[in-house]
Amino acid sequence: MDLFEYQARDLFEAHGVPVLPAEVVTDPADAAAAAERIGAASGGVVVVKAQVKTGGRGKAGGVKLAKSPQQATEAAQQILGMDIKGHTVGTVMIAQGAKIAEEYYFSLLLDRSNRTLLAMCSKEGGMDIEQLAEERPDALARVPVDPLVGIDQATAERIVAEAGFTADQDQIAEVLTTLWGVYRDEDATLVEVNPLVKTEDGQILALDAKVTLDDNARFRHPGHESLVDTAATDPLEARAQDKGLNYVKLDGNVGIIGNGAGLVMSTLDVVAYAGQDLGEVDGQLARPANFLDIGGGASAQVMADGLDVILTDEQVSSVFVNVFGGITACDAVANGIVQALQILGDEASKPLVVRLDGNNVEEGRRILQEAGHPLVTLVDTMDGAARKAAELAVNAPAS
Ligand SMILES: Nc1ncnc2c1ncn2[C@@H]1O[C@H](COP(=O)(O)OP(=O)(O)OP(=O)(O)O)[C@@H](O)[C@H]1O
Ligand SMILES: [Mg+2]
Repeated sequence: MDLFEYQARDLFEAHGVPVLPAEVVTDPADAAAAAERIGAASGGVVVVKAQVKTGGRGKAGGVKLAKSPQQATEAAQQILGMDIKGHTVGTVMIAQGAKIAEEYYFSLLLDRSNRTLLAMCSKEGGMDIEQLAEERPDALARVPVDPLVGIDQATAERIVAEAGFTADQDQIAEVLTTLWGVYRDEDATLVEVNPLVKTEDGQILALDAKVTLDDNARFRHPGHESLVDTAATDPLEARAQDKGLNYVKLDGNVGIIGNGAGLVMSTLDVVAYAGQDLGEVDGQLARPANFLDIGGGASAQVMADGLDVILTDEQVSSVFVNVFGGITACDAVANGIVQALQILGDEASKPLVVRLDGNNVEEGRRILQEAGHPLVTLVDTMDGAARKAAELAVNAPAS
């Protein structure tokens, strides 16, 4: 999960990284009062900054200096509602104005290809770092960081030396070790500060803050729940997440449920092929509507939860349940489907094509046949079932 700058700034502050006072507003009418409070210690000077999860805000006109509360209101009026690379600005941060003497760059990130962490640091920050890395790679120090050690004093000193700092080394090194605290304690995969600045009175400050948190570690951080931008989350994905399901919304009309990520991936493929093969029917093409892996132990409740999410998707016209019985055998899965349909009652309103194979398949099929639910069609092969689900999705006459 990427954070907004103001959220990242708050994490920085909580970990003792030096940042400037700031407040966020969503209404220009609140900007003047915020600027009054924030600018009190900086001669009334504040910076109004667009809060969007994309880079290059400054260049797009999303970062403006204001020398009075009146100017802060005007800047907020201009920036709120602005479109920056497809992101509409709904919030601005009003930060205290700094008197910048020098701008530096620092980032710490997960370097997957080298199976380590990588710190990057430069005396020349503020500008486009990709451009610097390309045009003058020597100006950007790259220092691998052992994740088990992190940025301790010695590593911080090495980063500072390799970046070529000849003054303020101790002060900068100290900021880097506190930034490591953010990375480690919050389970981040990226902490970037561009610019890290030295002010005219010699302070080192993080003037910008970019943090990506590792979603796989979310369970360790109940506090991170509040950082989720719920307005931007797909409502079906949010519903699935609440139920602990591994679900990704796609654009088609055939809902997919399978067990095991590999089987679900190939189910998406066979449904897409079946749709192509069938061609458009009344301008409609059958395509997969989602990825949903209900995992190994497909209990009735998990099956019901999965069906509930998929049937809530208005684009879905048919559902393909493709299960390979393993540790959880087909009879258990079949019972799960029967019970799930009971749990859902009238909410189950779209045709279901079920293909079972693997452990105890005969018994599984017998259970479904005996239940005889009017919405359920049993098909023995994966291709046949995909074809049937595609036909049902576009209302094509059965082949
Ligand atoms: N509090 C501040 N006081 C004075 N100047 C600031 C302040 N915050 C930012 N600036 C100036 O504005 C420039 C751009 O700010 P910032 O780095 O936050 O946005 P950006 O880099 O354009 O956006 P992004 O980081 O999304 O690409 C900084 O390089 C700095 O010169
Ligand atoms: Mg920046």
